Amino acid sequence: MAGHSEYVPQSAAAKWLESRLPVISLVRGSFVDFPTPKNLNYWWTFGGILFFVLISQIITGIVLVMHYTPSTAAAFNSVEHIMRDVNFGWLLRYLHSNGASMFFIAVYIHIFRGLYYGSYKAPREISWILGVIIFLIMMATAFMGYVLPWGQMSFWGATVITNLFGALPVIGETIVTWLWGGFAVDNPTLNRFFSLHYLLPFMIFGVVILHVWAFHTTGNNNPTGVHPKSKQDTIPFHPYYTVKDAFAIVVFMILFAWFVFYSPNYMGHPDNYIEANPLVTPAHIVPEWYFLPFYAILRAVPDKLGGVLLMFGAIAVLFILPWLDTSKVRSGAYRPLFKQFFWIFAVNAVALGYLGAMPAEGIYVILSRICTAYYFAHFLLILPLLGFLERPTPLPASISEAVLKDGGSGSPAGAVSAPQTK
Ligand code: HEM
Repeated sequence: MAGHSEYVPQSAAAKWLESRLPVISLVRGSFVDFPTPKNLNYWWTFGGILFFVLISQIITGIVLVMHYTPSTAAAFNSVEHIMRDVNFGWLLRYLHSNGASMFFIAVYIHIFRGLYYGSYKAPREISWILGVIIFLIMMATAFMGYVLPWGQMSFWGATVITNLFGALPVIGETIVTWLWGGFAVDNPTLNRFFSLHYLLPFMIFGVVILHVWAFHTTGNNNPTGVHPKSKQDTIPFHPYYTVKDAFAIVVFMILFAWFVFYSPNYMGHPDNYIEANPLVTPAHIVPEWYFLPFYAILRAVPDKLGGVLLMFGAIAVLFILPWLDTSKVRSGAYRPLFKQFFWIFAVNAVALGYLGAMPAEGIYVILSRICTAYYFAHFLLILPLLGFLERPTPLPASISEAVLKDGGSGSPAGAVSAPQTK
C-alpha cells in the first residue's frame, strides 16, 4: 500500500526476505511510517474499530460453524445445542449476533463521518465507492446470517425480502425461484444462504484491502479537509494512531461487552426463538434494526416495484455522491449551511429507522413518504444547490495553522482548541 518506508533491512534474514518479497517494508510503509495528518479526531478511529469487528465476526463465525447444521430439520436445534451444550457456545453466539449490530453501529458512524467531513470528495471517490460496495456486501451477509438460526423471523424475513425480486417485470418470478432453489424458502435456500454467508465476509476483507489502499494512495482526509502541505502537518501512523485506535477499540469493546453480557437479546427479536413455521405468519415481520430505514423507504411507496427501486436507489445514490456535492470546500466544519442540513439529514435517517419498525398504516405511511422524499432531496437537490448558494467560512492555510493558533511556531498542540470550532 502506498507510503514510503525508511526501512532498511538489518539482519541477513531480513535482507534475504526483502529482496524476494518486500512485505516488511510494505507493512512499515503502510502502518508504521505512513504519514498521517496530525489532527485526526476520534471519528477517525472507526475504520480501525470496523476492522476489529470484521476479524471478530470471522473468528467467532468459523468456530460457530463447527457446531451448526445447515438444514431445515436441524438448524434451529443446532443453535440451541450451541447455546446449551457447547463450552462457551453461548458466548460465541452472542458475540457473533451482537457483533453484527456493533458492525452496523460502527459503519453508520464511519459513513456519517465521511458525509460530514466530505471524505467522499475528490480525490477519495474510489475509497468512498469501495466503502459503499462493502456496505452492500455487509447487508447481504447480515441478511443471510439472520436466516441461519431458522427461527420465525429468519423464515419470514427471508420470504418477504426474496419475494421483492418478484416485483421485477418479466424475469421477476424466475429470479425468485432461482434464489430459493425451489418454490418456497426451504432447505436449498438455507443451504445456499449458509454457503454465501461464509464466503462474503472474506470478500469484504478483500474489498477492505482495496479501500485502505485507495486512501493510502491519496492520503487520509482530516477534520479541516485541507491537504497536508508540509512534513509538519503529518505524524507517523505508529505509535500515534496505533495507540489512539487501540484505545478507541478498547472503549468500543466495553459497549460491545455490555450488550453481550447484560442485554444479549436486546437488539434481536423474541420471535426468532420460535422455530420457523411456514404455516404461521408472525403478526409483524420486522427486519433487524440496521435495515429499518431502508425498510421504511420500501414500504413508503404503494407500488411494490416502485418501493424496491427506491430502496435500492437509496444506496445507489451514494455511489454518485462525489459528483452530486458541488461545493469546493471539503469539510463540513467550514460550511455553515451544509452543517445544518447534515443534522437534518441525520435526524431524518433516524426517523426513517423508527418508521420502519412501525406498522405500515395511517400516519406512519405518510411520515415515511415525507422522510423518503427528504432523503432523496438531500442528495439530489440540496447538496448540488448548496455548493453554489453557500458562503463557506475561511479555511486555515494549513493543518498546522488550524491545530496551533500561531501556525506551529510556539505553543504545544494540546493547548489549543479543536479545528472544527474555528
Ligand atoms: C468493513 C467495513 C470497513 C472498514 C474495515 C473500513 C476501514 C477504514 C479505515 C481503516 C479507514 C481509515 C481510518 C478512518 O478514516 O476511519 C477508512 C477510511 C474511509 N472509509 Fe472505510 N471502512 C469500512 C467501510 C466503509 C464504508 C461502508 C464507507 C462508505 C460508504 C467507507 C468510507 C470511507 C472513506 C471515504 C474513508 C476515507 C477517509 C479518510 O481519508 O480519512 N468505509 N475506512
